[in-house]
Amino acid sequence: MRPALGAAALAPSVIRAMGAGAPPGCVSLGLGEPSWALPDAAARAIAESARPGERLPYGPNAGTPELRAALSAYLGTPEEGCMLAAGSQAALFALFQAWAGEGDEVLVPDPGFVAYPTLAAMAGATARPYSLADDGSLDPERFAAALGSSSRVRVAVVNHPANPTGAGAGAEELAAVAASCEGRGVLLVSDEVYRELYLGRRPAGVLDGGTRSGVVALGSMSKAFAAPGLRVGWAYGDPEALAPARLVHNAMTSCLARPSQAAALALLGAAAETVEESRRQLALRWAAFESAMRLAFPDEPPPAPPAGGFYHWLRLAGRAGEDTLASCLRLRDERGVIVVPGSAFGSRGEGYARLSWAGHPGDVAEGVKRLAAYD
Ligand SMILES: Cc1ncc(COP(=O)(O)O)c(C=O)c1O
Repeated sequence: MRPALGAAALAPSVIRAMGAGAPPGCVSLGLGEPSWALPDAAARAIAESARPGERLPYGPNAGTPELRAALSAYLGTPEEGCMLAAGSQAALFALFQAWAGEGDEVLVPDPGFVAYPTLAAMAGATARPYSLADDGSLDPERFAAALGSSSRVRVAVVNHPANPTGAGAGAEELAAVAASCEGRGVLLVSDEVYRELYLGRRPAGVLDGGTRSGVVALGSMSKAFAAPGLRVGWAYGDPEALAPARLVHNAMTSCLARPSQAAALALLGAAAETVEESRRQLALRWAAFESAMRLAFPDEPPPAPPAGGFYHWLRLAGRAGEDTLASCLRLRDERGVIVVPGSAFGSRGEGYARLSWAGHPGDVAEGVKRLAAYD
């Protein structure tokens, strides 16, 4: 027996592998998830959604009517322009399956979120990387050049605030890439899962000016709503782009877990307070990270705050001849701090590591201290 092509393209996630193989006592600056508590309203909704002696039935494919209505109100988008999914990752899977296939290409940022090339390969398509500006922000000209270099691109992804760099994109840059996709009949997916987690100004979103043909944006309960374990996310935008993806998602999951939907409904009902509290928690962690970095690297410029999210893109000193993965493994095994090798995010991540400062502030400070002693 041998696995089919899509599955053969899969490898265990480097992010998970860095943690799984870690010696005891390591501090993690690896995984990108909030370390603050699930809001009480969500915990209560989960408990109330599954009671002893009561049924826990399936539900409608597209989500419970209450959750669909709440999401539509939260996004200010009609229900046919909203698609609930088992995490924004499942929305990505469904969109790629629906719009890219054998022989097609998916334009992905380099460096970029590790799932994009993987999900493209699972659809039978190939990832075509485009480069970002030197500071990681979106450069519409480089994007358009990559788009124009192939007639096979069917889907393009932008992700700002970005994983792994934290860099942003302005409204004008987003509008420019949307326009270049529209002219070529390419679906533009703007992954905005970090958008509500910002320290300063709210980052722009591709749909701020209203729905655009061939454009969808992604959001999630996993970051600003502090609920990654719910596995609830969404895509919204052009209803025509979402329709076939919704069918893929139905075929894959039937429907979302009811307790998760109940919790998501509670979180959307308290969205303003929940997201504000997440931003307060983010600011605490940034303060811990920034002061630890100043102490640990007194001769370097202090780290710049991200446009959103909780990542820092660190240039590795490394040893002569050592590759990025080896440097990060040595950091983990000798210094006791887990980071993600930048090479996992694409060829332009060579020589970098992604640090997540989403952990408890004490752990974040300790992790940075361990980095300082590294050569
Ligand atoms: C850029 C980006 N998009 C999507 C996801 C997937 O998030 P989820 O499936 O939890 O909504 C992640 C998770 O880390 C991410 O960093």
